[in-house]
Amino acid sequence: MDEVHDLECGNVRSSRNLTEVAPLATAPSRFPAGFLWGVSTAAHQVEGGNDNNQWAAWEQAGGIKSGDRSGQACDWWNNAERDFDLAREMGVNALRLSVEWSRIEPQEGQYDAQALRRYRQMLEALHQRGIRPMVCLHHFTHPLWFEQKGGFLRYDAANRFEGFARHVVSGLGDLCQSWVTFNEPNVYATLGYVLGEFPPGKRGQILTAVRLVNALARAHTQAYRAIHDLQPAAQVGWAHNFVVFQPADPRSVLDGWVTRLVNELFNESFVRLIEQGKLAFPLSLVSGDLNDVKGVCDFVGLNVYSRFHVAFDARLLSQMFARVFVPPHVPQGDHGVEQPYGEAYPAAIRLAVERVARIGKPIYVLENGVPDAQDRIRPWLIVNAVQELDRLIQAGQDIRGYFHWTLTDNFEWSEGWKLRFGLVALDPKTQQRTMRNSGRLYGAIARSNCISPEMVNQYFPAGIEPAPD
Ligand code: FCB
Repeated sequence: MDEVHDLECGNVRSSRNLTEVAPLATAPSRFPAGFLWGVSTAAHQVEGGNDNNQWAAWEQAGGIKSGDRSGQACDWWNNAERDFDLAREMGVNALRLSVEWSRIEPQEGQYDAQALRRYRQMLEALHQRGIRPMVCLHHFTHPLWFEQKGGFLRYDAANRFEGFARHVVSGLGDLCQSWVTFNEPNVYATLGYVLGEFPPGKRGQILTAVRLVNALARAHTQAYRAIHDLQPAAQVGWAHNFVVFQPADPRSVLDGWVTRLVNELFNESFVRLIEQGKLAFPLSLVSGDLNDVKGVCDFVGLNVYSRFHVAFDARLLSQMFARVFVPPHVPQGDHGVEQPYGEAYPAAIRLAVERVARIGKPIYVLENGVPDAQDRIRPWLIVNAVQELDRLIQAGQDIRGYFHWTLTDNFEWSEGWKLRFGLVALDPKTQQRTMRNSGRLYGAIARSNCISPEMVNQYFPAGIEPAPD
């Protein structure tokens, strides 16, 4: 039997053994022609040498749990082409990257033509390799000058962001038609203002987090209009991080209540602004109506990774009384410095797609992956994710692509170099790269636009069943 879920309240009851790999159909399962098989990356995580944004300042101030620095990262500023060669070798046909605002506009109103030229080179290099670029304008980082003026909470932030977006699209528009305005407004707001794990490192500021989500929705809307103004055929969306939250005790009223609250704030807020132009009560009291935000996207990007259990805990006022945790004996990737990254949960893709399909726009899965240095669970995740997508497309969902996070191990935000998400392993000291077997499997799927049992057997003859944690 399948799962029974009720997304409105974030409850998921499962009657299926979720570590089980659903048997692959004996005939290969084909994806629609033109389906994008991609990999996702972000400027600060891969470029190296970014020292003029608020993340660099956060690193210097000791904000990274492991004490690591992004440093040279994957050295893309000097040699992204080395990884683009690997992407071509693998066989992906799309790559999502972000442009670093602090390089393009290092001081307010002063644009660096050389930086934009380097991004042009990168996009040209992708096209030469038969790889379609998708460009994200804001992936968690922005210039120090912008942060010092109050970041997106400042009254004219949307205008500043629009200016940057116009500059980028004017400079790169002939090489790219797919744009992501913001990566994960909900993660940025939650980790920056509620959990204190991202800059500016504030804790418990839930109302500010809601105000920030609103401000990002306004900036998204203004940038969307500016991009279309310059490039009428552009496809513009944002990337939404969707997490499955499940009450720790399904019979507990308090666990159910706090799970609904977390779901409303994290999964629903930005989505609901785009879908309905307003937040649900009582958050609507903070935000008011944002009617001009409603319906503003050409696609919805989904970043989907994990499931967490949620229990009511009266001591956790700053976290809205929510204790969010991973229970034992579920499939998991490697642990972060302080806590597990989450239950690896491919079925989250289905729940996420079914939710955002209500907006009525095409969907791209723009991130999905697992921290896994030894490749012990990634193949299982990929096979299950691809099967989820296949079933959803068969059921009529308009899903246009899947982008795995990520191509090469890179600097993982507050966890530094501790977590390895790459299809390609990287030693950041020597910059040596080694393709993981899961990279080979993913490449085989991408090249043939289908998945079959033979492919899995070829790369993982011993099977891909993950050992429960
Ligand atoms: C997502 C981020 C991405 C990466 C993955 C693991 O939330 O968008 O940059 O860190 O998590």
